[in-house]
Amino acid sequence: MCNQKGGVGKTTTTINLGAALAETGRRVLLVDLDPQGSLSVGLGVNPHELELSIYNLLLGARVDVDDVLADTPVEGMDILPSNIDLSAAEIQLVAEVAREQSLTRVLDPLRDRYDVILVDCAPSLGLLTVNALTAADYVVIPLECEFFALRGVALLQDTIKRVQDRLNHRLTILGLLGTMYDGRTLHSREVLQTVVDAFGDQVFHTVIRRTVKFPETTVAGEPITTYASSSPGAEAYRSLAREVLARLDA
Ligand SMILES: Nc1ncnc2c1ncn2[C@@H]1O[C@H](COP(=O)(O)OP(=O)(O)O)[C@@H](O)[C@H]1O
Ligand SMILES: [Mg+2]
Repeated sequence: MCNQKGGVGKTTTTINLGAALAETGRRVLLVDLDPQGSLSVGLGVNPHELELSIYNLLLGARVDVDDVLADTPVEGMDILPSNIDLSAAEIQLVAEVAREQSLTRVLDPLRDRYDVILVDCAPSLGLLTVNALTAADYVVIPLECEFFALRGVALLQDTIKRVQDRLNHRLTILGLLGTMYDGRTLHSREVLQTVVDAFGDQVFHTVIRRTVKFPETTVAGEPITTYASSSPGAEAYRSLAREVLARLDA
């Protein structure tokens, strides 16, 4: 989940797409690659109480991944949590050998244990995000249906292109996801139309509407699929999960 803009729905999408995929019986791993730890908080993990986090794995400490993996309130969905310690990794990784492949090294041994691994990126195009793009097979770009939605997308595409060329040939854009859509406003409809005009079929048919239910789920520490199981927001992420699986042919 990647967009260097903050507040576009990366974390919300990671949690709720993950939960919707887990509902279909897939084994799901979520990876919190944002030092803010919002993904961890959103699933009820207290970042201040973490002894070990993704940070320790990335920096190659002799840590067993099973000691870092944490349960989530969702059956079949685990998390590699993070906290503010991870902010040091951006600098410390610079001095590492194969610094762009640190996350690949952590996740490759886990690929057999999960059907889907979703990585929640920080709002930056720094080394942590490059690690995510290097480890990934696909990238999903959430876009807020608001002013300046497309600002920065060219730079993001450029970064993806460079990672494809130099580090990870198999990286593919799986899709762009319109979030925080408000169908009552002309503005939101126009922004979505602009995105569709620019990216065509790459845009998911599923659009995530703006609803206060999402901020509420963060407080509750659980996904919308359990917090408000039959709400339109929950249904939207189930629909996204079906589209994702169809695009993956899985
Ligand atoms: N569809 C939505 N409707 C309303 N609020 C949303 C929606 N999606 C996310 N939010 C809220 O917007 C804020 C930013 O979302 P978040 O997923 O954390 O974005 P990012 O990870 O890209 O910074 C959070 O408070 C979240 O609860
Ligand atoms: Mg986030």
